[in-house]
Amino acid sequence: MAPERETQETLSNLLREDRRFEPPADLAAAANVTAEAYEEAARDRLGFWERAAERLTWAQRWDTTLDWQPPFAKWFVNGKLNVAYNCVDRHVEAGNGDKVAYHWEGEPGDSRTITYADLQKEVSKAANALTELGVGKGDRVAIYMPMIPELPVSLLACARIGAIHSVVFGGFSATALRSRIDDADAKLVITADGGYRRGAPSALKPTVDEAVKDCESVEHVLVVRRTGQDVEQNERDVWWHDVVERQSDQHTPEPHDAEDPLYILYTSGTTGKPKGILHTTGGYLTQASWTHHAVFDLKPETDIYWCTADIGWVTGHSYIVYGPLANGATSVIYEGTPDTPHRGRFWEIVQKYKVTILYTAPTAIRTFMKWGDDIPAKFDMSSLRVLGSVGEPINPEAYVWYRQHIGAGRTPVVDTWWQTETGAIMISPLPGITAAKPGAAMQPLPGIVADVIDDQAQSVPNGGGGFLVVREPWPSMLRTIWGDDQRYIDTYWSRFDGFYFPGDGAKKDEDGDLWLLGRVDDVMLVSGHNISTTEVESALVSHPKVAEAAVVGATDPVTTQAIVSFVILRGAADEGADIAKELRDHVAKTLGPIAKPRQILIVPELPKTRSGKIMRRLLRDVAENRSIGDVTTLADSSVMNLIAEKLPSAA
Ligand code: WT7
Repeated sequence: MAPERETQETLSNLLREDRRFEPPADLAAAANVTAEAYEEAARDRLGFWERAAERLTWAQRWDTTLDWQPPFAKWFVNGKLNVAYNCVDRHVEAGNGDKVAYHWEGEPGDSRTITYADLQKEVSKAANALTELGVGKGDRVAIYMPMIPELPVSLLACARIGAIHSVVFGGFSATALRSRIDDADAKLVITADGGYRRGAPSALKPTVDEAVKDCESVEHVLVVRRTGQDVEQNERDVWWHDVVERQSDQHTPEPHDAEDPLYILYTSGTTGKPKGILHTTGGYLTQASWTHHAVFDLKPETDIYWCTADIGWVTGHSYIVYGPLANGATSVIYEGTPDTPHRGRFWEIVQKYKVTILYTAPTAIRTFMKWGDDIPAKFDMSSLRVLGSVGEPINPEAYVWYRQHIGAGRTPVVDTWWQTETGAIMISPLPGITAAKPGAAMQPLPGIVADVIDDQAQSVPNGGGGFLVVREPWPSMLRTIWGDDQRYIDTYWSRFDGFYFPGDGAKKDEDGDLWLLGRVDDVMLVSGHNISTTEVESALVSHPKVAEAAVVGATDPVTTQAIVSFVILRGAADEGADIAKELRDHVAKTLGPIAKPRQILIVPELPKTRSGKIMRRLLRDVAENRSIGDVTTLADSSVMNLIAEKLPSAA
């Protein structure tokens, strides 16, 4: 830390960060998108999105670009297209049938190479099978699968026939799966016997059996054989290899309306009934594909692109399936966990396939930091040219580590802010244009009008903080919550009249660049100051001994809330008696004394959701000495016991 940093800096100067990373000259010179795109979109926003839509192949052009009846939007009205045709067939027709769509890598080391021509056949067969199973346009199909090639094939088969898929992440329980099947009234469930996780087959079919028991809407369960585990054969079950394999590999895609539903995806919300986020066809594919082209500077002829997310999350929908395939990309899909069979598995995959673009999450990056720099150093990763991050605010130190140890200090890192609801990236640097600041999502993409406002809905000046909002509709926005328009209005459009409110806090720095500060529910009130958990966490992670940190506000009789920090130390760091004092002083020095944590607890793990987000609610229970609340959305429920054991006053 620079000694001139004043400890009494006001909180509006939190996260002052003076490191900048200019785009590499060669990347900038050949970038897909130049600074003109911002000007073009500012001059004629709808015209900009029309040109983005023209990157797709339409069976019938739209007549109105945007029909906006707040808060209900229709994009590319009366346009007709088939998403699967755009993602698959058109590349084959253009002579790229032999091009690899997916390099698939199974966890046990098996692999498959799937070209666009292969994909066309597989998707056609699956579409024919769905039709035979009685699934038609508008019907809902629940998909509960491991990360195997049949997963994207299933999504595309649904899209092809106009059935609405609802992918449920394979880590969810039978109860969670059942509630999602019921909410969408799904007719078919597609699953597998199991998948490989952490070096062993992990069963999925028994969870489906339990979920669909006495469930009347489900007519069939279509089962892929992946692990060869024994499965119970129920009356409604059919094997993929029996039903799909014998189908014709020819299928004529029918055009669908731009506003026909494409999919429902339930948000993992920590409270309340899950929300079925509804995405439609034309606008969604337009923005998923344009952002993938722009934010990753994708060159389909030469890039090997790898997004490490699970297709069960929106990141996988938009940036493993729809965006990359619409762009004719070659992608890697990996089935398993990053530490199987060893902690260098990701880097081994980068080396093996010569991955050029890598898109992953801060939670993974912090884990790799914890495992140590020596692990990635063993692999040749010189192919990498763009790195991306998504899912949570990325702490500046994690950003710098990622750029340095994965990107050899050469690669731009794009911190992409978006949500299940936004469907595609909204705020991000562009790798050939932006001089990026570590930890900042920087600027709304061309065509996106986002702002930070105060509680009176006034735009805050540079240097100010408040609520992130989106001021204008965008093509891939959610259209509603499935079956519940009122909840859609209440959740996203009621807090600030006329603006979309994503629920995140943000700050504009002196240059007007945007810093995301986490969910507004996670903002703490300490002696009259609003302090974001993200900022204190980033200050902690900037200490060389800290790998990960989670911060919560605990009720305090004097200060309203007091800052309590849970810290995981880096691999080799020694706890030492004074570590807590050292870290408290470090935060005070970095952010100001007001942000000094009351308490620092060194813990072995942090509670996270299955998508890797820290569950601060549970840590607040610990910090306030309450019994721990609902842990059903935790990825690993034993973590809370590990934490409780480490506490002075075990909760
Ligand atoms: C929430 C959305 C977008 C796909 C994965 C998560 C947080 C996401 C960032 C980022 C700061 C981020 C926000 C957002 N978030 N990306 N780059 N910087 N925060 O999708 O599960 O719908 O979660 O994730 O809080 O609202 P999701």
